[in-house]
Formats: sequence, structure tokens, C-alpha cells
Amino acid sequence: MIMDGNGRWAKDRNFGRTRGHREGAKRVDEIVTACCRKGIKYLTLYAFSTENWNRPGFEVNMLMRLLVQHLKTMDKKLLKNNVALVAQGSLERLPKFVQLELNRVIRQTSTESPTLYLNLSLSYGGRQEIVDCARKIASEVAAGKYSIDQIDEELVRSRLYHPEIPDPDLLIRTGGEYRVSNFLLWEIAYTELYVTKTLWPDFGPAELDEALSTFSTRQRRFGKTSEQVAETEPAFETSGAAHGFL
Ligand code: IPE
Ligand code: IPE
Ligand code: MG
Repeated sequence: MIMDGNGRWAKDRNFGRTRGHREGAKRVDEIVTACCRKGIKYLTLYAFSTENWNRPGFEVNMLMRLLVQHLKTMDKKLLKNNVALVAQGSLERLPKFVQLELNRVIRQTSTESPTLYLNLSLSYGGRQEIVDCARKIASEVAAGKYSIDQIDEELVRSRLYHPEIPDPDLLIRTGGEYRVSNFLLWEIAYTELYVTKTLWPDFGPAELDEALSTFSTRQRRFGKTSEQVAETEPAFETSGAAHGFL
């Protein structure tokens, strides 16, 4: 999910942007709980992009403080719902106090079989993820572990930040913009896109249901013809159920 629109939500109400981000943070908890109830296994949230570092210092600092405040109360709720927190991005760029809190919650919620993996994208850029991946592979080739011929899609995938998390079935963007803003560039190659004008602080479980029900009407062809898909997957109309969404 690209959680966009906090600033506009606040502006519409003559509030400062801080209030919009605070309200947005509350929605995160509700959406995580709703996803657990629906049996969704993986949820990746775009919380802060590499480009967001270019926002005014005041807003960046406020977002970092808000994140830590949220992490401090989040662990109990995550444990209650059996949610394992993971994170991805250029995490070393985060202030130390954020890294410490983040790592604490990741450690405390780590479990063998969670109901939901919550993957927080922080200081995350899809291009940076691909650059980091290229560096890892290049150093392994230089060390003689692989030959250039052995570089294939599977190897690239395995060197991304979280290879254990499958490619997303659905990408939801709130706030109405038709762009991906450097989110999960490799992983969304065949993801279904859903854009809603609803601003993130207004995005609750009912809006999530709407997105999932739209998703369930999509026919995912992966390059094949409709007829081929209908033959191999006669129940495509209920593919949402097949993915455990509905
Ligand atoms: C998304 O809301 C939150 C972050 C990017 C951190 P915005 O702050 O981008 O809200 P708008 O787009 O200005 O409304
Ligand atoms: C995308 O929102 C990033 C997050 C939601 C964290 P932005 O508000 O930063 O996106 P752009 O700049 O409008 O593309
Ligand atoms: Mg925005």
C-alpha cells in the first residue's frame, strides 16, 4: 500500500500536516488488524521513501518522532495479532533512535509462523533496492561464487531486500495519484494496481473491502490469452478467494 494523502487530508481541515500524519498512523493499526482477519499473509506499507528525505527538515523530524512513538505502542498490538514486523529500505539512513526502536520491535515480534508479515518500507526506494541487489551480485561474481551466465531472474530476486516475501498480488495507492513513486519496482511487474481518491487518513476497513472486491474481478493473464487462463484456472472469478483475500 502506498499510504498517500495525509497532507491533503490535513489541509482540507485547516490543520497542520502533523495532524494528517498522526491520523494516518491510526489507520495503519486498523488496516493491519483488518488484514489479519481476512487471512492476508503479507502487507507491505510505504511509510517513507528515499525521496521523502527531501521534505522540509521539520516534517522529516516530525515523521521520525511519530514513527518512534508509534513503534513504542505498536508491539503489543502486533503480538496480540501474531504479526511479525520486518522492514526494508536504506535503514542505515534512519536516525539511531529510530533504528533502535525499529530493531527492538522486529526482534520482539519475530516468530516462526506469523498470521501476517508486516513489511514496513522506510527510507525505501525501488531503484536503490535494485542498486543494492546489483552490488551484492557483483561482489559475489567478483569473489568467484557465480559466473555472469548464472545471473538470472531467480538470482536477482533472491538478492532483493526480502526474497522470502512473494511479489504482491495487489498494490493499493490512496490519494488518487497514478504513479508508483519508486515503490517495489522489481516486485510489482505483474501486480494488479488499484488507485483510490480516498486520502490515507480516510482509508478504513470498508475501503479495503472495496479494493479487494475490485481485485477479485480482475483476470490475471500473465501474458496469456483470456481463453488460456479460463482453461487452466476456471475459477478465476473467485481468484480473490484463491489468494485468501475474500
Ligand atoms: C503520505 O502523505 C505520507 C508520506 C509520504 C510520509 P503525504 O504527506 O505525501 O500527503 P500529501 O500527498 O501531501 O497529501
Ligand atoms: C509516496 O508518497 C511515498 C509514501 C507514501 C511514503 P509521496 O507523497 O512521497 O509521493 P509523490 O512525491 O507525490 O510521488
Ligand atoms: Mg503525497
